[in-house]
Amino acid sequence: MLATSNPKSAVLTAKRNGGSAGQSHAGSNEGTVYHVRPGQTGKLIDIERFSLWYGLSQAIFDVTMGVERGLVTALIGPSGCGKSTVLRSLNRMNDLIDGVRISGFIRFDEIDIYSPDLDVIGLRKRMGMVFQKPNPFPMSIADNVAYPLKVDGIRDRHIVAETVERALKQSALWDEVRDRLKASALGLSGGQQQRLCIARAIAADPEVLLMDEPCSALDPIATARIEELIDLLRGQYTIVIVTHNMQQAARVSDNTAFMYLGKLIEYGDTERIFTNPINPQTSDYVTGRFG
Ligand SMILES: Nc1ncnc2c1ncn2[C@@H]1O[C@H](COP(=O)(O)OP(=O)(O)O)[C@@H](O)[C@H]1O
Ligand SMILES: [Mg+2]
Repeated sequence: MLATSNPKSAVLTAKRNGGSAGQSHAGSNEGTVYHVRPGQTGKLIDIERFSLWYGLSQAIFDVTMGVERGLVTALIGPSGCGKSTVLRSLNRMNDLIDGVRISGFIRFDEIDIYSPDLDVIGLRKRMGMVFQKPNPFPMSIADNVAYPLKVDGIRDRHIVAETVERALKQSALWDEVRDRLKASALGLSGGQQQRLCIARAIAADPEVLLMDEPCSALDPIATARIEELIDLLRGQYTIVIVTHNMQQAARVSDNTAFMYLGKLIEYGDTERIFTNPINPQTSDYVTGRFG
């Protein structure tokens, strides 16, 4: 459970409007088509009638969707449709932007994450984030991975070394770096840096990995390795990935959410989204007629 008394959560600026407290059911949100593939252990994240404004400009309109535990969920749609905004809303990264306002609800493991007394630091520990551009810290490979432990005050050398090795193995980087753990992370290739960032996220022992176009700065071979890695991590983590690369969404995800102009148009089984979507707008997008 999340502790609720962390004073650091006072830095938050996102304010929720009144919002409706009504429960909505899958398939009932007006305008969105649903055919979601269920995971084996149900939903981990529940987004309900979620809207978001940057100042006066509304970016997200009444999005309702559940994220299945242990599966890979892709967010797709043309540039500016709100994919990153939805992703950042899941771990309250949007709070760092002035003037953000929301309505509706996001529940993570049944906790209302926009509740005023939520421990946001604790929430972000449970949801690791990987960004578009790899962002290793200017320190050694091992220190990058050990960073979350250091922040938590864990200094025991054996625990740190074990965690570094486990996280690097899980992110399929260990064999390439085991002989140079003390070398600077900045000397790694872009693809290795991105796998290092995934290792650093994993070292914090999260339940969810949020990835915002994690391959867009990488070449095709490095991209393929990240996609293989996502496949390896499936089941161990709940993964939400934003991508503008439709082939990537089709290859790596179980469910796909197609967004357009801030609205969720269709959300369901990835195979169906790409082969036999229900909404004509989805069909136009996935067949490359627009976007
Ligand atoms: N920090 C911000 N301040 C104001 N508007 C923003 C900000 N970030 C995104 N937006 C706007 O919100 C909309 C959705 O953006 P975004 O979530 O980044 O889309 P995507 O990730 O699908 O490209 C866009 O119109 C964008 O201009
Ligand atoms: Mg984006």
